[in-house]
Amino acid sequence: MSVLIKGTRLYGEGDPVDVLVADGVIVEIGAVEPGEGTEGTEVVEADGQVLLPGFVDLHTHLREPGREDAETIESGSAAAALGGYTAVFAMANTDPVADNAVVVEHVWRRGREVGLVDVHPVGAVTAGLKGEKLAELGTMAKSVAGVRLFSDDGQCVADPLIMRRALEYSTALGVVIAQHAEEPRLTVGAQAHEGERASRLGYAGWPASAEESIVARDCLLAAHAGARLHVCHVSAAGTADILRWAKDRGTRVSAEVTPHHLLLTDERLVTYDPVNKVNPPLRTGPDTARLRAALAEGVIDCVATDHAPHAVQDKDCEWAAARPGMLGLQTALSVVAETMVRTGLLDWRGVARVMSERPAEIAGLPDQGRPLAAGEPANLVLVDPEAEWTVRGAELASIAANTPYEGMRLPAVVTLTLLRGRITAREGKIS
Ligand code: DOR
Repeated sequence: MSVLIKGTRLYGEGDPVDVLVADGVIVEIGAVEPGEGTEGTEVVEADGQVLLPGFVDLHTHLREPGREDAETIESGSAAAALGGYTAVFAMANTDPVADNAVVVEHVWRRGREVGLVDVHPVGAVTAGLKGEKLAELGTMAKSVAGVRLFSDDGQCVADPLIMRRALEYSTALGVVIAQHAEEPRLTVGAQAHEGERASRLGYAGWPASAEESIVARDCLLAAHAGARLHVCHVSAAGTADILRWAKDRGTRVSAEVTPHHLLLTDERLVTYDPVNKVNPPLRTGPDTARLRAALAEGVIDCVATDHAPHAVQDKDCEWAAARPGMLGLQTALSVVAETMVRTGLLDWRGVARVMSERPAEIAGLPDQGRPLAAGEPANLVLVDPEAEWTVRGAELASIAANTPYEGMRLPAVVTLTLLRGRITAREGKIS
């Protein structure tokens, strides 16, 4: 199959060019006329739209196995392709937990069968996510799934000795440990960001220090072990300061921020609507401002969705009983456009860096996040930067509909996604 994208602006820069894709790679960039060796080629008129490398999400919950009433690998892959993603990392907090080769191989195989996006299973760090003993990291790394990212996400690896061992093993295996930074003793019963608003609304607080203290500890553990560490969903301004300090002293730490922590704040909690409940919680305006600046500067490396679908009965209930988490795959680009591009903090080349190149590097994916150049794999996304759309949860590809952006008008629309040269999504539809 070959595809000719006519009149696209690479990274949103320079004059429009044509991009010819065949046999899974970019064959030619320049002025390509259909007809000259392009018979049978699908032609896409880009009208100056922005071409970027396909997005890579280091943090997705696909809920399979176990909660197929909220999401499946198939529905989540569709949401990913429609959101411009060509690779996603599926978190381990499934049922059964992805803490062994059988489960990670199932997730990997099912992702291949669906074929809309590369689904890379994340392995659990500890058996059953219990934080007590290490899972079989080596077996998962060497399995067909080739696990390269390990996380107990949803739970913190709180025991410093277990975390230290995990970091030491990860270096030997050439894999990365991604920490859900939440000191559990500081967040017992926590429901919302600890501060004035939570007190007024009667929520038990989740203090920023619960995140900051684990990130500081883990940066020290990683530095002493000479290991790499990845910090999941940074939510607090103070964490950005710790990351800057650790990076300045040479610690091999990377970090992600979610779209919702870039845009939304705890002001939304006044409605008591559990759609806004998420872990870590929505924080304050100054936190979002600091996170945006840290992402622009590279102190925070990338955007990851923490796409967390939940069935109606787990969200449409009283706040305390509701599960934390919100959908993110189909809205990520638009939220990044709103918070980072419209504000002038990032240009489209910067978007390519934080949504594709850096996450691919962090996870060690050789065929993702590559330059837009002849000979490179055709994992691509075309974005209409001028278009706007209104988010409707019921219209998203996920089985669950728990989007916090319901009814919101957002900029930037994904019009085409290519996985190894094959069109996976076009004009809001799966192909
Ligand atoms: O809000 C969240 N939801 N945070 C997590 O860490 C886990 C996730 C989930 O699995 O629903």
